[in-house]
Amino acid sequence: MAEPYYITTAISYPNGRPHIGHAYEAIAADAIARFQRQTGRDVRFQTGTDEHGLKMVQAARAAGTSVRDLADEMAGHFKAMCDALAISYDRFIRTTEDAHHAASQALWQAMAASGDLYPSRYEGWYSVRDEAFYDEKELTGEGKDRRSPQGTPVEWTAEESWFFRLSAYQQPLLDLFAANPDFIRPESRRNEVVRFVEGGLSDLSVSRTSFDWGVNVPGADGHVMYVWVDALTNYLSGLGYPDEGADWKYWPADLHLIGKDIVRFHAVYWPAFLLSAGIALPKQVFGHGFLLHRGEKMSKSIGNVVDPIELAEAFGVDALRYFLLRDVSFGQDGSYSAEAIVTRVNAELANSFGNLAQRTLSFIAKNLDGAFPGPGRADPADGILIEEMVLACAAFGAAFGNLALSQGIEAWMRGVFACNQYIDAQAPWALRRTDPERMHAVLRTLVRAIRMLAITILPVVPVAAAKMLDQIGATERDHAAIDDDGWYDRTAATSRIAPPSPIFPRLELPVEVG
Ligand code: MSP
Repeated sequence: MAEPYYITTAISYPNGRPHIGHAYEAIAADAIARFQRQTGRDVRFQTGTDEHGLKMVQAARAAGTSVRDLADEMAGHFKAMCDALAISYDRFIRTTEDAHHAASQALWQAMAASGDLYPSRYEGWYSVRDEAFYDEKELTGEGKDRRSPQGTPVEWTAEESWFFRLSAYQQPLLDLFAANPDFIRPESRRNEVVRFVEGGLSDLSVSRTSFDWGVNVPGADGHVMYVWVDALTNYLSGLGYPDEGADWKYWPADLHLIGKDIVRFHAVYWPAFLLSAGIALPKQVFGHGFLLHRGEKMSKSIGNVVDPIELAEAFGVDALRYFLLRDVSFGQDGSYSAEAIVTRVNAELANSFGNLAQRTLSFIAKNLDGAFPGPGRADPADGILIEEMVLACAAFGAAFGNLALSQGIEAWMRGVFACNQYIDAQAPWALRRTDPERMHAVLRTLVRAIRMLAITILPVVPVAAAKMLDQIGATERDHAAIDDDGWYDRTAATSRIAPPSPIFPRLELPVEVG
């Protein structure tokens, strides 16, 4: 039985349409999920929408619609974005689902049974944008300019509320971080969280009484759960919690992939809730960086919020995915612009990898009538190239296994460059007349190398790499298949290579997309 691997993204607020930051997270999670599937893991990949809370209520009011209608409409856009970007999720969860309400209530009851919930009154600061309570000492500015650590406005809130005894979990959390240095990554975020917890934890207000758009607190009329309590529970309810049915084997999650702004919720509140409820803890929380547009924060007022579907339409899904995973060092902030996408994709996909495949396969289609080249006369350079491919693909795998996505692609690119050097040095086009035996061996080596490179890069550019593999009749696409020595001869006996259409066309800078 394959070992389970459970990966989740944050669930997004459907208070507006998805932007490129949401797309970035989904794409990164998808690449990791696809990579893990290729290594033979039994992957469960969940994403979805976080539909309760005051932010949703206010957005609906501003749009003159009901919260449910807004949630339905926007959740549809988030799902459509995932589908347009080839996100291979297994479960798209919406927190308005009945089963999710039941799961959140079950978690609540488990925390109550541990004696960690008590009624009191909350008086303090709240940021609707972050859906977060903040201690006075965390705020900056005065009066109306008071801001949260995220720079969002805060408002004074006073209401009856249930509290979670977060203060009791300070030491257990510090012990958890000490015993599992990789629980929070990257290291800079881990250090921030450790400092925050060391500074002391106040009990957390976990219910609201001033509005009713949320999950009802069991046995407490007029209380809905604080939105983060039910939001975090999505990771369990998507597996059928509280029933420990067929999908429960995926818990604990291997990876919660989230943005850096919500690490506190995932690395402090969430493990504390789970410890209280007696549920196993996730293995890792990774806080990726933010995507900026030309180095600036995206905001509606600056007018630089770009629709990810439009970007994918302008440049292609694979090109967009490649750019985001290659250009941004995973964990750090990154910047995108149309020029940066075009430059990166043209240099690496169109001119290097795409051109390698296009030149090789069209030459075979034209000069060998599509027949796979025969063994010909081998040369040590051939074996050296294949060895370089094995190393490049292994380096990609090691890096991806460690979430060093950009470094993994860089290692893969070294394999592509090695092929291009080999092609230039061997010049098969010239060999056609002078030494056809040698030409066969060179082309055969190249087809094998292209296959290895295409299988490796599938998680990043799934649509294009699959097309390339189709062109050479390569059906086995998992990692174990990379070293398959027999593949070539088996395929050569039954397949032909048709004149290929270019898989990575050169991009032009569109006028309308900035
Ligand atoms: N609903 C909460 C998450 C609940 S998870 C139990 C939320 N939603 S969100 O819509 O604001 O953000 C969803 C994800 O997108 C978060 O991981 C967030 O960090 C990420 N991003 C939002 N803007 C982003 C960028 N500009 N760049 C990269 N990721 C960004 O937070």
